[in-house]
Amino acid sequence: MDILSLGSGGREHALAWKMAVSPLTDKLYCAPGNAGIAREAECVTLDLADHKAVIAFAKDRKIDLVVVGPEVPLCAGIVDDLEAAGIKAFGPTKWAARLEGSKGFTKDLCKANNMPTAAYERFKGASAAKEYVRKKGAPIVVKTDGLAAGKGVVVAETVQEAESAIDMMFGGGLGAPAWEIVIEECLVGEEASFFALCDGETAIQLASAQDHKRVGDGDSGPNTGGMGAYSPAPIMTEQMNRRVMDEIIHPTVHALKRAGAPYKGVLFAGLMITKDGPKLIEYNVRFGDPECQVLMLRLMSDLVPALLAARDGQLKNFDLRWYPDAALTVVMAAKGYPGHYNKGSIIEGLGAAAQIEGAEIFHAGTKADGSRIVANGGRVLNVCARGKTVREAQSRAYAAVDLIRWPDGFCRRDIGWRAIERE
Ligand code: AMP
Ligand code: GLY
Repeated sequence: MDILSLGSGGREHALAWKMAVSPLTDKLYCAPGNAGIAREAECVTLDLADHKAVIAFAKDRKIDLVVVGPEVPLCAGIVDDLEAAGIKAFGPTKWAARLEGSKGFTKDLCKANNMPTAAYERFKGASAAKEYVRKKGAPIVVKTDGLAAGKGVVVAETVQEAESAIDMMFGGGLGAPAWEIVIEECLVGEEASFFALCDGETAIQLASAQDHKRVGDGDSGPNTGGMGAYSPAPIMTEQMNRRVMDEIIHPTVHALKRAGAPYKGVLFAGLMITKDGPKLIEYNVRFGDPECQVLMLRLMSDLVPALLAARDGQLKNFDLRWYPDAALTVVMAAKGYPGHYNKGSIIEGLGAAAQIEGAEIFHAGTKADGSRIVANGGRVLNVCARGKTVREAQSRAYAAVDLIRWPDGFCRRDIGWRAIERE
């Protein structure tokens, strides 16, 4: 079959790498892709916001399945539009994608279905929100309702900080003024990323992972899209995984089905493992980036039939097999990220780095410039490795990092520290 993958990050490189080896894949396209994806797929220039253009390309090339990586096109309804045009697409509908697109929607769904999450209130105006913050005290968490590219959450240590976050969000500090915000209890515990594949009715557990959101070593500095990840997350024991499926994932899938908008695609639960058990921090309606990269390295089964089964409502009795090995990825980013950074610097040594045992390099923001690879974004490379333990995967990944010559780049040096402390 011919597949079109949408996106251009490290997540999409990992997905393309995995789909390209499927015996089911005849031809793989990726739009817009990047310099690494171009090794696995034919990259095509398409504007993902232009659904008509995507549909026209898919029809012209007789695409059998479109796989949507990022949340923005999902929340804009690209799956609805492709399916309406008779093209199979993997991912949730616009309605179901509100699990990521609207914090208020998800919080209300949790409340209505008794799913464990932080206590909260929704607000349409600043004065009531501030009054609530003053009543509850700090620490407290302030979130804008819609998509905000990872910048829509402020964990406020003081009431004053929470009040200025409220003013910032309603005042348009994140672009358009927030139309609604959610204020919630600050949860204490260890975070984990949990993934399930859903077909509208059945959900099967994928693997767990842990991300590193802060830019600096020791979890310091501002939040980013994610500076590194590993899988599995040791805190996610069998029993904890079962609780997440029973208390969070299954109730969500059943509630959306009852509401007449079945959820198909990857459901990514951002969890806080508290002393009372797992609590949902947020949902994402796609694979995580960089979590996807470590999941794909650990997935033994063919990915393509799994995506098709999810799209076709056939996950019942479906089984996926995983390598027992750990996988770890270190994100190399352009100096300045997540703030201002430059594009266009030359990256060398990728070939030698890929020779390290167990290593795999996925590209995120890269571009080919003749035979050279140049940086073309904030998060630029995912240097990954498998190993028997997280420690072994980590030492292989950093051995590969150390062979990459890119003076304009940087990475965290402590990815995996929590797991290694446990090992
Ligand atoms: P989100 O964009 O919802 O994933 O939030 C970004 C980060 O903010 C999360 O990964 C957590 O570290 C933190 N966070 C969000 N909500 C809470 C909460 N209720 N309690 C504690 N930390 C939170
Ligand atoms: N790494 C977190 C995310 O993809 O949202």
